[in-house]
Amino acid sequence: MEALKVLVVDDEAGIRSGVTRILSKHVVSYPFMDEDCNFVCFEAASGEEGITIIDAEMPDIVLLDNKLPGIKGLEVLEYIRQKNYNIMVAMITSYASLEIALKATSDGAYDFIPKPFTPQELKSSIDNITKQLFLRRISSKMKQEGKKIRYQFLSVLSHELKAPLNAIEGYLNIMKEKQAGIDITAYDSMIERALERVEGMRNLTMDLLDFTKIRLDNRRDKVKMVNLRQTAKMSVSTVKPYAIQKNISIKLEADDKIEFEADPYDMEIIFNNLLSNAVKYNRDNGIVTVGISKEKDGIVILVSDNGIGMTEEEASQLFKEFVRIRNDKTKNISGSGLGLSIVRKITDIYHGKISVTSKPDEGTTFRVELPV
Ligand SMILES: Nc1ncnc2c1ncn2[C@@H]1O[C@H](COP(=O)(O)OP(=O)(O)O)[C@@H](O)[C@H]1O
Ligand SMILES: [Mg+2]
Repeated sequence: MEALKVLVVDDEAGIRSGVTRILSKHVVSYPFMDEDCNFVCFEAASGEEGITIIDAEMPDIVLLDNKLPGIKGLEVLEYIRQKNYNIMVAMITSYASLEIALKATSDGAYDFIPKPFTPQELKSSIDNITKQLFLRRISSKMKQEGKKIRYQFLSVLSHELKAPLNAIEGYLNIMKEKQAGIDITAYDSMIERALERVEGMRNLTMDLLDFTKIRLDNRRDKVKMVNLRQTAKMSVSTVKPYAIQKNISIKLEADDKIEFEADPYDMEIIFNNLLSNAVKYNRDNGIVTVGISKEKDGIVILVSDNGIGMTEEEASQLFKEFVRIRNDKTKNISGSGLGLSIVRKITDIYHGKISVTSKPDEGTTFRVELPV
């Protein structure tokens, strides 16, 4: 159980002890909170004493009377605001000083509790403040995490771009200085490798475009009925040239009438990524099978291959940005590590699921479920 610190600043001893008594037995719980919370109370008879306790204890909630012997409640509120303390303040004032309560609210007080109050009134006000406090915490945590992910993303991305740029620059400098003589054929393999790196950067850029599109474009206004077999067929012809190089055959097992309401481009991205992976991480003479079927809960897309596969541990890392499995079998295969994260984002948008089963050297099956 988490304990929230509550400070009562009031010159009336009865109010202070009343609040402490009521809140010491009070517990708040909401479904979105990890655990229930209770309250530990501190009491101050003046604004000055209140400020001392605020600095020392950093309470979560301050219940503040305005009419105090020395500095006024509003000044304490101003102090909290200037220090930028993350404290929820509620004014406890009589109805006669409604005006002050209003001023306090515009100065950043969250609530005001009119005096005199019943235990129930105090509790319900505290419940409300607690709810706000937890919601604020959750939203600031989410903002922090979002920022962290964006920076991680940028740092991996700049690394991914730096490596090929360095390589290409290196080859160009060798050629500029004619380090292998003036016969241009001496540079063939360097040119070949530089072109491969350019191709890698192009693929990364294309993946990034898909990625930002998914991120920015969450209005699905291009939604229409998509014939999934047709979409899969287009993807098959896109990867065909690569499949031919390794003599990989691709089988499409799908009923012609399976339609799904979606942005057609989203569906294309799913098939393109899963199919290009099934070809890329395959062996010579391998087989790729694409299955689309309509089950009772929705559409199921299966993309299987009998390629290099992966261990359970490796499979558990997939679907996050920039995750690539690095081992002897993949070291010569280039990629951005974005494809599956993009596919996962799209399935999320359609409230679907993606999963993988795989065995090293036997093959891999990706399964996408899209509820209708
Ligand atoms: N069909 C597959 N068979 C084996 N490994 C795969 C397969 N599909 C994906 N992977 C692994 O998952 C990683 C992430 O895939 P993806 O996000 O598409 O990135 P990329 O293909 O650009 O590396 C790949 O680098 C690869 O290691
Ligand atoms: Mg890929």
